[in-house]
Amino acid sequence: KELIVANEQIRQLVLSQKEFIDITAHELRTPIQAISGNFELIKMTYVPSLFQVSSNRQNSNNIDKDFEILFKDKNRLNDFAFGLVSTYRNAQRLEKLVNVILVASRIESNRLELHKESFNLNEEIQNVIKDVHNKIDLSSHHGDSPPSIDIVFEPKEDPITIFADKIRIFEVISNLINNAITFSNGESITISVKKFQNNENEMNHVKDDDLVYVERDIGKKKDECVLISIKDKGKGIDKEILPRLFNKFVTKSDQGTGLGLFIAKNIIEAHGGRIWAQNNKNEKGATFSFSLPINK
Ligand SMILES: Nc1ncnc2c1ncn2[C@@H]1O[C@H](COP(=O)(O)OP(=O)(O)OP(=O)(O)O)[C@@H](O)[C@H]1O
Ligand SMILES: [Mg+2]
Repeated sequence: KELIVANEQIRQLVLSQKEFIDITAHELRTPIQAISGNFELIKMTYVPSLFQVSSNRQNSNNIDKDFEILFKDKNRLNDFAFGLVSTYRNAQRLEKLVNVILVASRIESNRLELHKESFNLNEEIQNVIKDVHNKIDLSSHHGDSPPSIDIVFEPKEDPITIFADKIRIFEVISNLINNAITFSNGESITISVKKFQNNENEMNHVKDDDLVYVERDIGKKKDECVLISIKDKGKGIDKEILPRLFNKFVTKSDQGTGLGLFIAKNIIEAHGGRIWAQNNKNEKGATFSFSLPINK
């Protein structure tokens, strides 16, 4: 009997690994196809000489000629430039995807390592906000102007020094803010941070709301913790995915892999914290919150 159970467990494991490979390979295909399509155009129409093998001198003449022709035709030049930007974007997407897949795969096999250090959480949140704004500026510079986003963060207490993996916490906050931006149609986003003792009532009022996910055993010890909330005024979390929100590959976005929240949950829990989400009561949007022990 034990053998049958063990066999079934292995079968499930193999199946879930296959699913992981299938889905991630599928995700990688889209940007790769875009990049290779763009280069195909360069090869076939814009600068074919780049891909031709001939003597060095001859080749460089041919390349000069191709570029001369290209520069004379503004429309084609525009298309060419557009293709380059698209290649850059897709390469970035690919890089991001590979990182996300690597982290998810480490989580799956219990290989996620934390490198903890002391840092000011407020400063790190400011860094994420700066990074998000830089990325928005960059993409509006590249043609499509996403609405500029108002991210409100006014820490009431500073510094809030925590002992945690700075890079991973950056990733979590960055993912939550990016989600808020994606699903909030340009409306402002508010971030708040506060300290609490993890056996205080602080969490209880949160518990009374209709939560999507919250661990109820917050603990009896008087540990000092910090609670970070990211509130948006967007369309709220789709009811259909609410119960599975933090599972991998759960997504309602065309571009998304559905790994962001899965990774966030695992990073926060590896720190001994909790993460949950709720649709706002009596107003639009959602609030994602997580707690972290301060661990001085
Ligand atoms: N602030 C939010 N408001 C509404 N829905 C949200 C919000 N944040 C997340 N969601 C829902 O949860 C889903 C999963 O989010 P998650 O970050 O895990 O994946 P994703 O953003 O779709 O893709 P990626 O892997 O690129 O992050 C989203 O597709 C969306 O449907
Ligand atoms: Mg996301």
